[in-house]
Amino acid sequence: MDDRHVLVTGAASGLGLGIVEGLLQCGASVTMLDVDADQLARSAATVDPAGGTVTTRVCDVSRADEVHAVVTAAAAERPLDAVFANAGIAGGPGVNTPEGRVYDLDWAAFDAALAVNLVGTLATVRAAASAMRPVGRGSIVVTVSTAGLRADSMVGYGYSASKGALANLVRQAAVDLAPDGIRVNGIAPGPFHTNIGGRGPIDPAVEQAWADTVLLGRMAVRQELQGMALLLASDASSFMTGTVYPVDGGALAGAF
Ligand SMILES: NC(=O)c1ccc[n+]([C@@H]2O[C@H](COP(=O)([O-])OP(=O)(O)OC[C@H]3O[C@@H](n4cnc5c(N)ncnc54)[C@H](O)[C@@H]3O)[C@@H](O)[C@H]2O)c1
Repeated sequence: MDDRHVLVTGAASGLGLGIVEGLLQCGASVTMLDVDADQLARSAATVDPAGGTVTTRVCDVSRADEVHAVVTAAAAERPLDAVFANAGIAGGPGVNTPEGRVYDLDWAAFDAALAVNLVGTLATVRAAASAMRPVGRGSIVVTVSTAGLRADSMVGYGYSASKGALANLVRQAAVDLAPDGIRVNGIAPGPFHTNIGGRGPIDPAVEQAWADTVLLGRMAVRQELQGMALLLASDASSFMTGTVYPVDGGALAGAF
């Protein structure tokens, strides 16, 4: 990834931060984008730029105009080789809890999940494609979820619906952008230790419930997404577009 410039949304925490760390280790320069200015500054201070550079930009991806301006500005500084549309939120309790069931649907939480996970991702894809089109090449990687590829009782309606939509958005954008030399793929993580369920230690019962959903019997750490992220961002995936790749400890293969 030497001399490559990659932008990552939701870069201040969790999977986005892990992607940033993996890219930097392989020589890339990275623009870290996040809505949480304080956490973004703290996280950027912890990463080792290695041979590249680290730039931070504060932005709410659900505001399409804002993300367009920020991505355009980042690309003007240095052309973007890859963009990770990764920012996302949980958006309410799972349907395995009384308050997460459809009877008591929290419309505000549903709307929030769609605004960030779906609209925010489409806005990021649009901004990335607009920046890459003049160069005629680029890779866009969307963080989907195993919850977008099948039902999942541990998540709520907003998360399930938005991630399901993202799986098809990846295919649609791949069709649209292939003539412009831009590849679009998705990653479908299984359960990873991040801050999406809130900061602080995870409830052991919740951790066990997630672990029970995967064949490998445990949750993953953010470094375990780096291999797929690097593959899809780099020329090693030059013949890959339009597919969502699970990194899920076998969750989609197993029954639970
Ligand atoms: N953790 C998991 O097990 C898991 C599994 C599958 C998919 N995912 C997906 O991975 C992605 C990253 O989540 P994570 O688990 O690392 O969570 P996280 O909460 O640790 O990190 C998400 C980051 O996104 C940022 N963010 C939230 N809303 C934003 C907005 N409107 N604009 C810009 N930034 C925003 C947050 O500030 C945070 O830094 C999400 O799309 C999530 O749905 C996570």
